[in-house]
Amino acid sequence: MPKPKVFVARALPGDLHLTLADATELDFWKDELPPPREALVRAVAQAEGLLTLITDRVDEELLRHAPRLRVVSNMGVGVDNIDVAACSARRIPVGNTPGVLTDATADLAFALLLAAARRLPEAAELVRAGRWGTWYPNLMLGRDVHGSTLGIVGLGKIGQAVAQRARGFGMRLLYTGRPNPEAEAQTGARLVSKEALLADSDFVSLHVPLNAKTRHYIGAEELRLMKPTAILINTARGAVVDQRALLEALVRGRPGGAAIDVTDPEPMSPDDPLLKLPNAIVLPHVGSATDQTRAKMAQLAIDNLLAGLAGQRLAHCVNPEVFGPAT
Ligand code: DGY
Repeated sequence: MPKPKVFVARALPGDLHLTLADATELDFWKDELPPPREALVRAVAQAEGLLTLITDRVDEELLRHAPRLRVVSNMGVGVDNIDVAACSARRIPVGNTPGVLTDATADLAFALLLAAARRLPEAAELVRAGRWGTWYPNLMLGRDVHGSTLGIVGLGKIGQAVAQRARGFGMRLLYTGRPNPEAEAQTGARLVSKEALLADSDFVSLHVPLNAKTRHYIGAEELRLMKPTAILINTARGAVVDQRALLEALVRGRPGGAAIDVTDPEPMSPDDPLLKLPNAIVLPHVGSATDQTRAKMAQLAIDNLLAGLAGQRLAHCVNPEVFGPAT
């Protein structure tokens, strides 16, 4: 029997994509940057399986060029790069990689919180630039983390993992979004309205997927509700925040700071005025970037791909209805 043709949109950590060569006719994109659109369109023409990263857009137009496609496996928990409805209409299952990146992403959200609260990038830069005169009472004053209030937008897996970390720091916890009584009981987080969360929190951390409802969830109006000392943390998706409004708000000084791992668009232009602000920290979308986590994500994406090619249910599938009712 001929092996199914698959296209993997980038080399995977530890060259894990090569493990597909036994079971499939493997083609993969060898560059570090994403395949240009034309290359992706060409690659999917014969492909039965497609392993994408969050940078590869899978939409109606691409699917029209992929008549043999039977599974799309995304290496990432977010699937906002994929038109899931268009895949479902063709009964193509879409896999993702939840769970394995929860802790790494929560670690990074907390690292951003601490870095912004205690002004770590500015302080390190002061030493590096030879401007460390002496110890003095007003040098690099930041904000207390212990005893402060953290507002979590979206108490899903990653939101809960951030809440667990915050408990260790003696923080008071609020959350908004879909009620989650079980997670409330485990974390002590209290459900409040979006407005109350923004007004009461010293730190606001975003943990919602990007979709039509959450695009620009934080805009000018929301930013105005935040305390002048508060810090916004975003490890979700850049477009959950209206970035232009964020820039204006940070220039005005309300909220007091932002620490973001995700931008809109990505990559952020090196000329972006946000990068000039001392009260903004911007990272290049590295929430899940650890050796261990990326290896697990890659393996899960491979497993999803192979399951789809074998006509089996994927371990993690965002449109399980394509398989019909579970038996
Ligand atoms: C995801 O999986 O959606 C992350 O943003 C990648 O780190």
